[in-house]
Amino acid sequence: MFNIEGTVAIVTGAVDSIGRDIVNSLLSNNAKGVALLDANDAQAEEFQASLDKEFGAKKTLFLKVDVTDFEKVKDAFKKCVDHFGNLDIVVNNADIIGNIEMVIKINLLATIQISNFAFFDFLPKYRKGKEGVIINIASVVGLYPSHMLPDYSAAKQGVVAYTQALGVNGRYENAPVKVMALCPGVIDTEIFVGVPEYYQQFMRELDFICQPPGVVGKGLIKVLKEGSTGSIWVSKKNEPAIEFKYKSKTFPILRKLVS
Ligand SMILES: NC(=O)c1ccc[n+]([C@@H]2O[C@H](COP(=O)([O-])OP(=O)(O)OC[C@H]3O[C@@H](n4cnc5c(N)ncnc54)[C@H](O)[C@@H]3O)[C@@H](O)[C@H]2O)c1
Repeated sequence: MFNIEGTVAIVTGAVDSIGRDIVNSLLSNNAKGVALLDANDAQAEEFQASLDKEFGAKKTLFLKVDVTDFEKVKDAFKKCVDHFGNLDIVVNNADIIGNIEMVIKINLLATIQISNFAFFDFLPKYRKGKEGVIINIASVVGLYPSHMLPDYSAAKQGVVAYTQALGVNGRYENAPVKVMALCPGVIDTEIFVGVPEYYQQFMRELDFICQPPGVVGKGLIKVLKEGSTGSIWVSKKNEPAIEFKYKSKTFPILRKLVS
């Protein structure tokens, strides 16, 4: 079982809603430190102060980074390792809903680039224990396409596919980094502020249970501790996260390409 104690994590989109809950859960489970990457610094100071109060000073490092600026992301990884000394967990959580190009760039492309960079460069070199972990926050619409959010659905389906492909066992044998995804159902966050009434009505009719952000943090800890590489997890109806049993058939590993 993966031991969170003494680990260091990078969390993107860390200073709002679900990101905050993820950071809280990691520190509650005795992570040594968390680098908070977010494009928005408006709430960073207040959030860090509340974490200092709860978990003790200097457990977090805020870095203002737009995840679509890959050079800045790489620089943030270096700063995180210089500051904390190790890096064990990367959580791709930042997202938006809205402009199609930005949805693909932030929700899919940045998740792929950051996972790739963490998998091949940073986690193998700087992990403290015997394995590193990448967790990509996808969505239930990454498993069941939603006609209301087709571009967001496509991005999240891409995240699920990429997670399964990068997380195949054959790769893990060469580089001990687990890659997994957590797909939450509807969560009560800012993401739905300003969403049109017809959409909210639709969700009520479907009897969607709007979960508090806390379920994602709990789910993330379960996935960290119990998940195997390439596994996809679902967190819905306020219940503990469960592994989603469907597995895409991945092509057999061409061993020469795996490094
Ligand atoms: N809220 C839900 O119902 C729900 C459901 C399923 C999955 N999710 C997923 O959970 C994750 C978090 O969602 P949320 O509801 O907390 O979102 P949110 O919009 O409330 O917060 C997103 C965070 O990402 C940051 N961010 C946005 N663009 C960025 C960029 N380019 N670079 C760096 N940071 C950026 C924002 O500043 C913010 O802190 C997302 O991946 C989302 O798709 C959310």
